[in-house]
Amino acid sequence: MKLLVLGSGGREHALAWKLHESQRMEELYCAPGNAGIAQEAECIPVDLSQLKAVVALAKKLRADLTIVGPEAPLVAGIVDEFEKEGLAIIGPNKAASRLEGSKVFAKEFMRRHGIPTARFEVAETFEDAIKALVRFPLPVVVKADGLAAGKGVVVARNHAEAEQAVQDFMVRKTLGTAGDRVIIEECLTGEETSFIVLTDGRAILPMVPTQDHKALLDGDQGPNTGGMGAYSDDSILTEALHDEILRSMVAPTLAGMEMEGSPYRGFLYCGLMMTPAGPMLLEYNVRLGDPEAQPILMRLRSDLTDLLVASREGQLASVDVHWSPNPSICVVLTSKGYPAKPETDKTITGYEAVEALGGVKIFHSATRFEDHQLLTTGGRVMGVTAIAEDLPSAIQRAYAGVNKLQFEGMHFRNDIGAKALKRVPKITAPKRTRVPKAERPASRK
Ligand SMILES: Nc1ncnc2c1ncn2[C@@H]1O[C@H](COP(=O)(O)OP(=O)(O)O)[C@@H](O)[C@H]1O
Ligand SMILES: [Mg+2]
Repeated sequence: MKLLVLGSGGREHALAWKLHESQRMEELYCAPGNAGIAQEAECIPVDLSQLKAVVALAKKLRADLTIVGPEAPLVAGIVDEFEKEGLAIIGPNKAASRLEGSKVFAKEFMRRHGIPTARFEVAETFEDAIKALVRFPLPVVVKADGLAAGKGVVVARNHAEAEQAVQDFMVRKTLGTAGDRVIIEECLTGEETSFIVLTDGRAILPMVPTQDHKALLDGDQGPNTGGMGAYSDDSILTEALHDEILRSMVAPTLAGMEMEGSPYRGFLYCGLMMTPAGPMLLEYNVRLGDPEAQPILMRLRSDLTDLLVASREGQLASVDVHWSPNPSICVVLTSKGYPAKPETDKTITGYEAVEALGGVKIFHSATRFEDHQLLTTGGRVMGVTAIAEDLPSAIQRAYAGVNKLQFEGMHFRNDIGAKALKRVPKITAPKRTRVPKAERPASRK
């Protein structure tokens, strides 16, 4: 098959890497891609906001299947444009992408379908938002309705901060029309978990669970970012919680979307808060997360093309998916100044030594090659992703890779996966007892 991946980040690099090893792959393209993706796929420049140009490209390449990485083209309706032309594509259409494109739509949908989520009110005007604020305890959460690339949510400690957020979104229009409406929401506490599934509209294929690290600095301090790292380990969710999330969130979402006339297909990401009262849904994303995709795809043993084709053909119920039992982790390297104003064009060294380590792969996010040099082109530069037989080894392996890399102003968190290390002995210790050395069969020689 001729496969086309749309996007240019670490998530798309991981998709391309996995598709590159697929038995069914004959030609692999990525548009626009980056310097790392060019190792796996032929990269072709394109502006993903120009939907007609993307359709024309897929036609020219005779792509048999296109996979969309980021949310913006999905929310803009790229799937509808492809389907009008009879082109196969993975992802929700424009109507179904409202689950991410409008937080007001998503929250009201959750309320209509009894999906556990934080109490909220929608405000259409500045005055209504200010009035609504006092009906919530502090801290209180203010959310802009539309896409905001991670800049549309403020967890306000006091009313002054909350009012400032409302002012920024609704009056100063810092996010453009995305802030025309806001949500005022009850603040929840607990650990966050990313639960992602692939669906053909009916059958649900859960990915392994992941945990993202949003804050810039160790210990979840500093401003929020697009994601500083993620890991996947079975200890993140017990089987009971896994089933509860499927039953109380994912299944009613798919049934609700179908009932409302916008059946959902593609990857669906549920951002959860594991509160003392049980899992609550913070938000939907209509795609794989970045950096969650990197550790997830590293654990996937099945042929990704098979899964995507099955989801496209409504045959997902009949596929078997195989995962590595081993945990995986991705540590993101960022540029000085990120997230506010990242420096660029710094020379990256040491990357050849990383892949020599084994069990480690660099997924590039913002890089380009020029005159035999690898250069940074943005805030999140690359993610060092590792897999190993247990989480401490995976963490050690990823950081061994990180330590070989260098560029001026390079920053990363030192504690990706650390939360799980505190949890591992509690939940998985019984499963992990090892055969004592003396009882192992003598190795054949
Ligand atoms: N109700 C809430 N209570 C506490 N924290 C929240 C709440 N809603 C969002 N957050 C925090 O804000 C982050 C971003 O919110 P989210 O709804 O995921 O929006 P987006 O990813 O579009 O920025 C979440 O990952 C979480 O840390
Ligand atoms: Mg989020």
